[in-house]
Amino acid sequence: MRHIKENPFDLNEESLFLSQNILGMKQNLSIQNNIYYVGVNDRRKPLFENMWTLPYGVSYNSYLIVDDDTVTLVDTVDVAFFEEFMKKIHSIIGDRKIDYLIINHMEPDHSGSFGLFHHFYPDIVVVGNKLTFGMVEGYYGTFGKRHLVTDGDILDLGHHKLHFVMTPMIHWPETMMTYDENSGMLFSGDAFGAFGALNGGFVDSHIDLSYFDDEMTRYYAAIVGKYGSPVQRALEKLRNVDIKMICSTHGPVWSGENVSRIVGKYDRMSRYDTDKGAVIAYATMYGHTEEMAEAIAAELVAKGVNPVKMYDVTRTDSSYILRDIFKYKGLILGCPTYCGQIYPDMEALMEKISVREIKNHYLGFFGSFTWAGAAVRRISKWTEGVKMELIGPPVEMKQAMDDKDEEKAMLLADEMSDHLNSI
Ligand SMILES: Cc1cc2nc3c(=O)[nH]c(=O)nc-3n(C[C@H](O)[C@H](O)[C@H](O)COP(=O)(O)O)c2cc1C
Ligand SMILES: [Fe+2]
Ligand SMILES: [Fe+2]
Repeated sequence: MRHIKENPFDLNEESLFLSQNILGMKQNLSIQNNIYYVGVNDRRKPLFENMWTLPYGVSYNSYLIVDDDTVTLVDTVDVAFFEEFMKKIHSIIGDRKIDYLIINHMEPDHSGSFGLFHHFYPDIVVVGNKLTFGMVEGYYGTFGKRHLVTDGDILDLGHHKLHFVMTPMIHWPETMMTYDENSGMLFSGDAFGAFGALNGGFVDSHIDLSYFDDEMTRYYAAIVGKYGSPVQRALEKLRNVDIKMICSTHGPVWSGENVSRIVGKYDRMSRYDTDKGAVIAYATMYGHTEEMAEAIAAELVAKGVNPVKMYDVTRTDSSYILRDIFKYKGLILGCPTYCGQIYPDMEALMEKISVREIKNHYLGFFGSFTWAGAAVRRISKWTEGVKMELIGPPVEMKQAMDDKDEEKAMLLADEMSDHLNSI
């Protein structure tokens, strides 16, 4: 039964209480031009979307634009961090009212605080597009004032003038970006985002960036990777925009030369453009399929392919494998037959590759069985729906690898290395 959603957060005053030290925060949250960072770090969530591992945590970024006569918030944060979020806002504006809440993206890692937030700021004008408001009501109940924007609309805040750019499917249909003409800052939603918490600061030039390059690729591969064409359309719309800073909803605020580097990285990833190198993703129960994977890897390396990345699909969170598939052009899959099927963890990886419509790769595969092989036949069937160039003869091994199996595996590896070496 669906319960009635009048405003579920329309609680009486006594029932909501923010801790006494709400005004106690001393952090410098200024980015530039009276724009502030009010996001939070989550180092506790084990799995993003309950699926993707977070070894370095993740940040949910929100931004506050404090103009002479208006205050505007861009997105909120995961509801678990509501109190810290409110502390940050209060430390900047005290009891001053907030005029606008811009919702660039409705996924609850960003909109989750909406219901509570709206209770504290019931007169706020919610700014969104034609798809936003239905989602707000569906998740958080009825709300009051709203301002509908379409592509190219401008909201004049005083000094700051916000331009709205519709960027559907990065990464939900209602997604949009907000560009401030005054500061040149682009509030980009999930686009250009990265896994990884922000340690001690938020602007790229002030913090250690060592994990963010790979964590941005992994975030893209896991979260945005299906939407290469929408990303390309968004980049086209942004082509002539003078972006001075990128303020994503996850990861650092990008400035200076990093802006064009990050845009270029997104352009490449969304075209499935990769470097020379190969991923060997395999499954094994007793080591025989792995032995063939090792033999193939050794031959690739002997023929000059570097890097070669080997992943046991059962042991590795698939986001790392997908990340490297988005990085390297060669892909080789291998697995045992299991109950007349593809080994389940491999099947799950193949499904994720299909969903993301990963293309522009060289693909080879091998498999094993003991009494009636199915893995190679089924992988072969799957390749018919995948837009990758097939490389080498598939290798099917019965029980342990013999000389003939190894010869075939070498043919596969050699054909793969020939292709990769000619890029
Ligand atoms: C639970 C289980 C189910 C299996 N099902 C099949 C099967 O349906 N057909 C078959 O030929 N081999 C089957 N096998 C044998 C495996 O395919 C064989 O052990 C494997 O290919 C050897 O490679 P590995 O050492 O890398 O695990 C099964 C093995 C196990 C443990
Ligand atoms: Fe999202
Ligand atoms: Fe997000």
